[in-house]
Amino acid sequence: MNVNKKHYRTIWVKEGNEKIIQIIDQRSLPYKFIIEDLKSVDDFVRAIKEMHVRGAGLIGAAAGFGMYLAALNNDDLNKAGEKLKATRPTAVNLAWAVDRQLKAIENAEDKVKITLETAKNIADEDADFCKKIGEHGAKIIEKISKKKNNGLVNILTHCNAGWLAFVDYGSATAPIYAAHGKGIKVHVWVDETRPRNQGARLTAWELLQQGVPHTIISDNAGGHLMQHGLVDICIVGTDRTTYTGDVANKIGTYLKALAAKDNNVPFYVALPSSSFDWKIKNGIKKIPIEQRGDEEVKYAQGLVNSQIKKVLLAPKDSPAANFAFDVTPRRLISGLITERGVCKANEESILNLYPEHKYG
Ligand code: MRU
Repeated sequence: MNVNKKHYRTIWVKEGNEKIIQIIDQRSLPYKFIIEDLKSVDDFVRAIKEMHVRGAGLIGAAAGFGMYLAALNNDDLNKAGEKLKATRPTAVNLAWAVDRQLKAIENAEDKVKITLETAKNIADEDADFCKKIGEHGAKIIEKISKKKNNGLVNILTHCNAGWLAFVDYGSATAPIYAAHGKGIKVHVWVDETRPRNQGARLTAWELLQQGVPHTIISDNAGGHLMQHGLVDICIVGTDRTTYTGDVANKIGTYLKALAAKDNNVPFYVALPSSSFDWKIKNGIKKIPIEQRGDEEVKYAQGLVNSQIKKVLLAPKDSPAANFAFDVTPRRLISGLITERGVCKANEESILNLYPEHKYG
């Protein structure tokens, strides 16, 4: 997508130097646009753990390129894969990308060549799948628009499931960008998404760059807006969705889904197939939920006199808990928007769309 009218992906091979992978350091957005060079698998481990890159699709693509740099630097690829997998536990894309690389190099003579090819394929596929999610999801938005007198569709989204969370286009934002591109009137309610404020910092910045009308709201505002008919549809992303339709996403997603159900607001989840977990049946019991440091809850980051600073929000000595994700059960979800089309959030419907996973 565009940054100051120039097209960027979120991760790419440096022009003229295949030993360097470049990323956008998302910790500095929206205040500064910084491109970072990564040269080793350990650079990637740090970048994923400390969230220079984040979002399910992008950390999958990052793991793919991390494995390539491990091959380039002659590292033990199994160990590199373990290190990458241990960085963040909830998004299944990470392990999926590492396993795809390990499979690709089985019997390969030139591991560097194969891992580079595979990393590029993972990234291209991610962008392509997100584009298709956009095409399928835009039809849902268009249908709602046709039913409204003024044609304006109010969409609520949580966290950042935009192009910054993927390689391009995003999952939850792809239908929004596609609908906006077709001239359908859209307005996005952007949940700020404490504690790291990926909504306020990243989704709002993305939408601003693409010229999509939006309003940032506090995390607790969604229910009120839904009660007053100000939300026509919720679209969120996911870090892991079970083959039975339970959805893990950024903490607070479950509460939005409950409010949507209570107010008859359709609640959709957009995802590429790399975010499905084909093994786990019960999402609430089995999806590992990342717990992060309490400083993310007790402090907030912002711009003070042109410098990025952290400020303390709470008593320094109060303990805080930081559960990064929650699981929305399938019964609260109206549908899943995938690269292959829209399906219901249940085992039968998901496996009909992905029959190759019917037997494990
Ligand atoms: O902790 P983050 O910023 O990696 O979490 C991102 C989200 O929760 C997104 O909504 C999610 O990854 C789904 S879309 C990729």
